[in-house]
Amino acid sequence: MPKKKSAPRKLLSVGANAPFPFVEAYKSLRTNLEFLSATANYKTILFTSSVPEEGKSNVAVNLAMTLSAAGKQVVLVDADLRKGTLAYYMHLKKSHEGITNLLAGTADWQDVIVPVNQNLLFLPAGLLPPNPVEMLSRKKMGEIFDYLKNRADYVLVDTPPVSVVTDAAVLSRYVDGVILVTRPGITTIQGAQLSKRNLEAVNAHILGVVMNGYDVKHSSHKDGYYYSYSYDYSNQ
Ligand SMILES: Nc1ncnc2c1ncn2[C@@H]1O[C@H](COP(=O)(O)OP(=O)(O)OP(=O)(O)O)[C@@H](O)[C@H]1O
Ligand SMILES: [Mg+2]
Repeated sequence: MPKKKSAPRKLLSVGANAPFPFVEAYKSLRTNLEFLSATANYKTILFTSSVPEEGKSNVAVNLAMTLSAAGKQVVLVDADLRKGTLAYYMHLKKSHEGITNLLAGTADWQDVIVPVNQNLLFLPAGLLPPNPVEMLSRKKMGEIFDYLKNRADYVLVDTPPVSVVTDAAVLSRYVDGVILVTRPGITTIQGAQLSKRNLEAVNAHILGVVMNGYDVKHSSHKDGYYYSYSYDYSNQ
């Protein structure tokens, strides 16, 4: 049987036409992160999940926009060197230079950083390499994070699923905390448990879980948006 073509990826953004509860859910997430940061200075946050399509990239973009709308200086980093979806979500060419070009020494900061608005900068993945884990393990990756940390209130890092590949676990050493994204209908209990174990095995600091697409009323969605996000913080 021919493989079913999957629907094109879509960014459900907190922009002007987003439903009120959707926008509010991101504001709540922002407030919770700000509380955490006030007590423990968490500024570099990594987003991962168990499997593809749980909404990591959507959550990272929308939280970056919501934080920047409140005047925070934010850098959004596409560290998913396997898909580089954020360039598509941010309406950039897939070929835009980014992390991999910095790591390879073929581009400088001014070539790669994209200003999205007054408070938000975007660092794309760059040319997708055949050896993402090896690239992410390079010493220079630490220097990239140090550079970004010194220039922002928050650095939000989008990564591939941690129960499928090791990229997020490798990157967790550079960040203050990890948020695990789950999505009803996609995330399984076993998948979430495996992700937690994989992150704990590298001493990652799991800040909490975002439940993306949690539909409180079961029928309260419009235009593909599900109205509610819920989250739960552990390990504070
Ligand atoms: N809350 C939601 N309601 C409806 N659709 C959603 C929601 N969150 C994400 N999606 C859809 O799911 C698809 C995958 O989203 P996204 O790219 O954010 O996932 P991902 O976890 O980053 O996937 P990958 O691991 O492949 O990078 C997109 O088309 C997006 O529009
Ligand atoms: Mg993604």
